[in-house]
Amino acid sequence: MSGGHGGPITGSVLKARTMHLRRKLVAGNWKMNGSLAALTELGPIAEAARAAGGVDVALCPPFTLIAPAVARSGGLSIGGQDCHWAESGAHTGGVSAAMLKEAGAKLVIVGHSECRAERGESDSVVRGKAEAALAQGLQTIVCVGESDAERRAGDQLAIVARQLEGSLPDDWKDGELVVAYEPIWAIGTGKVATPADIAAMHAAIRAALVARFGDLGLRIRILYGGSVKADNAAETFAVADVDGALVGGASLTAESFVPIVEAAAAS
Ligand code: PGA
Repeated sequence: MSGGHGGPITGSVLKARTMHLRRKLVAGNWKMNGSLAALTELGPIAEAARAAGGVDVALCPPFTLIAPAVARSGGLSIGGQDCHWAESGAHTGGVSAAMLKEAGAKLVIVGHSECRAERGESDSVVRGKAEAALAQGLQTIVCVGESDAERRAGDQLAIVARQLEGSLPDDWKDGELVVAYEPIWAIGTGKVATPADIAAMHAAIRAALVARFGDLGLRIRILYGGSVKADNAAETFAVADVDGALVGGASLTAESFVPIVEAAAAS
């Protein structure tokens, strides 16, 4: 996908292109879980993805498992969970977007709330990472989402608007920008945002993307993340402007991840 804003396209033509371009994307985030032995899960996931069709499926294991996962991906996209903003240099512990690409990664998650919280990542740091990843041609999932306290105060729309403003790059020539809305209170807690909450936020994110990027903003996929499981996936995918899911815990096994892929394909 190009970051160019393109010529004017309107009405049904735009809608048709948008529907086509916004295929559902289901991305698994293994976080700091997994092992070489766990890569046996990839086979049945890839098989289900091929059988389901019409949906993009990706898995982001820890860095050390990327190359071996690529070797047995069976057509799944394999990605990283983070990358550095710099290309190389004195950044102990850092992994650059170019290194991810060399390992065979097709995508990367940046700005996950766990990285923002544990490492104090600011919006501008996240933006630098997104720019670096896009420059390598990676599909780049930028995460945003409010805390429990922010939602209870009714500030969620303002918080996410600010995160989008600060975390998304202004322009990019390569790669594909994807936004993931992940309310922090729903991550790993079993609490799922209601379809109405998700609809309100995704509509606000879509409006912000269109205001900032024009037609391109209609083509950017917006994922929902936070305790997505087999039993809530279908109702989540049915919400307008939900273009897929970022899945943590339920992506660790084929048994729990495949039904989510199938729900996306059926939506
Ligand atoms: P969860 O994690 O599905 O385990 O809630 C989602 C995420 O953090 O990406």
